[in-house]
Formats: sequence, structure tokens, C-alpha cells
Amino acid sequence: MSKNIESHLVEERTFQPPAEFSKEARVKSLAAYRKKYAASIADPAAFWGAEAAELSWQKPWDTVLEWKPPFAKWFVGGKLNVSENCLDRHLTGARRNKAAIIWEGEPGEKRTLTYQQLHREVCRFANVLKANGVKTKDRVIIYMPLVPEAAIAMLACARLGAVHSVVFGGFSSESIRDRAEDCEATVVVTADGGYRRGKVVPLKENVDAALAAGADSIKRVIVLKRTGSPVTMQPGRDVYWHDEIEKVSAVSPAKGFDSEHPLFILYTSGSTGKPKGILHTSGGYLTGTYSTSKYIFDLRDSDVYWCTADVGWITGHSYLVYGPLSNGATVLMYEGAPDWPEKDRFWKIIEEYHVTILYTAPTAIRAFIKWGDQHVKKHDLSSLRLLGSVGEPINPEAWMWYHKVIGGERCPIVDTWWQTETGAIMISPLPGATPTKPGTATLPFFGIDAAILDETGKECGPNEGGKLVIRQPWPSMLRSIWGDKARYKDTYWKEYAGGIYLAGDGARRDKEGNFWIVGRLDDVLNVSGHRLGTAEVEGALVSHETVAEAAVVGRPDEIKGQAVVAFVTLKSGYAASEALNKELKGHVAKIIGAIARPDDIRFTAALPKTRSGKIMRRLLKEICAGGVVKGDTTTLEDFSVVASLQQSGNED
Ligand code: WTA
Repeated sequence: MSKNIESHLVEERTFQPPAEFSKEARVKSLAAYRKKYAASIADPAAFWGAEAAELSWQKPWDTVLEWKPPFAKWFVGGKLNVSENCLDRHLTGARRNKAAIIWEGEPGEKRTLTYQQLHREVCRFANVLKANGVKTKDRVIIYMPLVPEAAIAMLACARLGAVHSVVFGGFSSESIRDRAEDCEATVVVTADGGYRRGKVVPLKENVDAALAAGADSIKRVIVLKRTGSPVTMQPGRDVYWHDEIEKVSAVSPAKGFDSEHPLFILYTSGSTGKPKGILHTSGGYLTGTYSTSKYIFDLRDSDVYWCTADVGWITGHSYLVYGPLSNGATVLMYEGAPDWPEKDRFWKIIEEYHVTILYTAPTAIRAFIKWGDQHVKKHDLSSLRLLGSVGEPINPEAWMWYHKVIGGERCPIVDTWWQTETGAIMISPLPGATPTKPGTATLPFFGIDAAILDETGKECGPNEGGKLVIRQPWPSMLRSIWGDKARYKDTYWKEYAGGIYLAGDGARRDKEGNFWIVGRLDDVLNVSGHRLGTAEVEGALVSHETVAEAAVVGRPDEIKGQAVVAFVTLKSGYAASEALNKELKGHVAKIIGAIARPDDIRFTAALPKTRSGKIMRRLLKEICAGGVVKGDTTTLEDFSVVASLQQSGNED
């Protein structure tokens, strides 16, 4: 692997933190960062304890960390309420009347909720959940458009000590059913629809289909009226948000829960067909998201902070809801697509609301580059002072464009590496303190003992490629995979002994210690910054009556980072055709969601396999990357020749 990684070495350019920024920054120089980092690694409990102490605890903890690898407990004995930390504690001073959420719908509606108003709505909805039978630790599926009520529902669960599991609104009814069944949820919160590129996404209809097919544990569906589209309400099961909210009081005491009380489950793709229910708990998760938001987004009361992620992803959990709200920040939330109705929608929003911090994904940045600078130039973006990137490695060209065209060469860029599992940002520049470089997430956050190891567990030297690991537990780490401790141990803790967390990414560190992330080492694709298991897509394909076998790999894509290519062998009696090609793509989108729709489907008479019968994905990947196979075709290809050539000894 190291050879492969060295070929990524490009001429590096360092950008020093702007002096203007450093003046006000919480940490003002690289030397100050290094000092604080060294202290935090020498004594992580002291660093994290001080961070957690900035939150409101109803009962102080006895022990910062109890670590029985691979199981960690943080702030043991402490009690807190996560929603109280995001809301109530801001109500005693000037923040009471500060905007908590500024929202814009895709069709253009605008709403602002102050902290006081958001608090009231969360309390009322917590009472609605309670009235509909939700008890502490019950699981609630949230399947919503990006409207304030999505955050309200999450915070209302947190207030009651119920466990939310947000399912991205772009996922299918099958995905809802699978997740609801896996976590045995009792309630679904959804909407009559949501807007995406001028069309209505039929969320309630998808929920109906999911419940018709299973998920028998669901007893109640609470429906928000968003689009006014007609929906079928099943008496005894389905109720309207607006009806229920009228029946309850706005008083909901924030009971304290154990620091390790479960906060949410979020499903993410792994290397099998079954998504993993990543479990996060309360005190540690909040400490991690609070602390990283404070230092990395450098939040101030004058900021309008915009994270473009949907609440369906971890970024939407940690940096649209829990991190910024626990900091008392003003969060901008936008429901729709960046190119709707015009390709300047994002820049229009930044100009109108004087957004100061923008946190978005490389795939979006690459799309903006393609659409052209003229859309940006129409708007005044001078309010921006800080930019962020997340989800995949950002290519230096996209970084430079972001820096120049969006950031006016004055905004530091924080390229933040982290995962659903890590809960919070792990590696990132510290704006005002540490230098930035196009293409690298640079240095670990305080208390994060990140390293790169070789196959034998030895730390790699400068620019030597290896596996990214975290050698010490951290507060916002996942606690387990819901209902599957064995998979938790196997996936993250088996590779190296002694409680070392395996991230699943390949990376190298340069001479200055900057981390350069190469990408996933497992069978997980990163499509537009979203994780997609190849096994999930394969499963969806073989569930079609015509498909005998399928192998899915990624190929490099200019905009999406990776595109989905499926090699498919058909059952006898079925013939390849344009129509079938289209049908299979639609089938995958229906089973998983639009983000999984294959870009290319290649029909093949046989798939190349090793002697032990494993599909040779690396070969298929090389075929795709090397341009041997380009675009869609209905011709049947025969890989048996390549396969037999490769069979001698290559057990990939
Ligand atoms: C990738 C998203 C390079 C990585 C927060 C990781 C990145 C996966 C970066 C997690 C980055 C995320 N540079 N790669 N700044 N951020 N990744 O769980 O492969 O949706 O393992 O969390 O995205 O994706 P997830």
C-alpha cells in the first residue's frame, strides 16, 4: 500500500493562520496547540474533565473514564439532560432571545426560532411523545425533511431519555423497516412530505409501505404537515403533530439521566449487507461535540453558523444540532438542494443571512466548481470568516477553489476527519492556531491519540502508508453496535490488540505530522460523502428476479468522489437489455434509496473469482479505474479469461 500512497504526494502548500483570526481565537498559535495537545494526551482525563465541566450536570461524575477495552464509560456516576444543555441553560441570560435556528425551506419560507421558542417547542413535543406512550429508553424513528421539527423531535427524545434513530429522508421504505425492526422502535415521527428540487418526497407513504411490510413494534406514527400533500392516516396508529401539540402543556422538566444513558442509534454502512446501528450515549457524546464545535468552529455569539448536512447523517447530529446548540450558537438550516431554483441558492442564503461559518462537503464544492464561478460572483460573501469540509478527502484543486472563490483568501479551511463511530471531529486544523494545507485534515484534536500503524502494529514512518487508528478512548466514541457486541468487537477492535480503535481508513502522516487520509480500506464506498456498503447494493441487486450474482465496486468520479459500478450476471433465461439495465438501477434505488442507484451496470457472463470463490473486487476496481470498462453497455462480458490469469496465487 505504501507505494500506492506515495504516488499521491503532490507539491504541498502551507497556509499560515490569518493574523486577524488568531487575535480572537481560543488557541492562538501552533506552539500553543502543541503544548495543549501534549498535555491532553499525557492526561486525557484532565482535558476531557475540564471540557465536560463546562456543561450543566445535575449530578457531578465520580470517575472521568472507566476503560475495559473495548468498552468505555465516561463521566461515570454523573447525571445530565442533553436537551437541558442545548436549551434551558441558555435561557437565563441574553441568549434567551437569540436565534437558535434560522430556517429556510426549499420553496423559500423563512422561520426563526429563538432559544426560548425552541425550548418551548421541544418541551411540548416531549409531552406529545410521552402522551403517545414513549418511555425512557424507547426507540423513536425520525424520518423527516430538514425542517426545525426534525431537530425538535431529536431534542424532545433526549429530554425524555428516549433513543432516537434518524433515518435519512432519501432512504427507502425497506430501509425504514430494516432499521425499525433492528432497534425495535415503537414510534415513527415523519411528515406528509419534504421538498427536494421542487418535488415532494412522499415520506409518509414510505412509512406506510415500511409498516405494511413489517416493523410490527411500531405502535404510533406522528405526522407533521409540511407540504400539505394528501396522506392516508390509519386510525388508531397515525396522529397529526399539530393536533397532538394542542393537547399538551409546554412544561417538561429536564430529568437528569446517567452519563452513559443511550442518546441515539444511527445506522451506517459496513462491509456486510446489514447496516450497523452505531450507539452513542449522553455525557461523553455531548462533551465531544460541544468541545470540538467550540474550538474547531470557534463559535461566537455573533456567528451565523451553517452546516449543510441533513440530520439523517452524523454530521447533522453532531454539528447541526448537539454541538452548536450546546454552545448556544445560531444555526442556519436549509431544507433543499443547492441548485434550486438556481445554482446560486447557497450563495444567496449566505448573503441574505450574513452567514459567517460554512461547513459543507467536497462533493458539493466540486459541483459548484463545475457550475461555474458566475453563480458565486452574483453575491456578497464577505460575511464568511471560516469554512469547513467533511465526508471525504478533499482534492487540493477543490480546496484551492473553496479558499479563493468562497473564502476570498481570508477564511481558514478546517478539513475535518471523523466518522459516525467517532461522534465528533478527530483530526482537523484549529483555526487561528495551526496552519492548513490543501488535501490534509492536518492534526488531531486535543485528547485524540491518532496514529498510523502497519500490518504488524508498528507505527509507520513519515509518508509511509498504513491504517488509521486511535490508541486511546475518547468521550464521543461509539459504545457498541446496537444488539451486536460481537460485530462491534470484530469490526473495530480485533485488528490490533490492547484497545486500539481501527477506523477503517488508509492514511499517511507527513514529516510535520499532518494526516493525509486516502480512503476506506473495507468494502465501503464513499459516494458524495455518504457511506455505502458494496454488499448492501449487491444484496439489493440479487433480490431482483433476473439477477444471479452481482459485484459492486467504486470507480473514481469527478463530482461524487466515487461512482457505483455493478457487475451483474443474469439467471439463465434472462437477457441483458437497456430496459433491464434501467430497471435494475431503479430497483436498487427503491430498495436502498436514490444515493445507492448504480451509475453503471455491466452485464457479464461470469465474475472473476479466486479459487476459494471470493469475487476479485480489486481486479474489477482496477478495470473500472483503468478505463478498460467505460460507461454502460448491454454487452455481456466474459471475465473468465482475466479471472483464470489472476487465479494463480492472488487471493484478494
Ligand atoms: C471519510 C462522516 C477524508 C472517511 C463525518 C471516514 C473523510 C468516513 C473525511 C466516515 C475527511 C470523513 N477527509 N476522509 N475530512 N471525513 N471521511 O461515518 O473515509 O459518514 O471513514 O462520517 O468518511 O463517514 P461517516
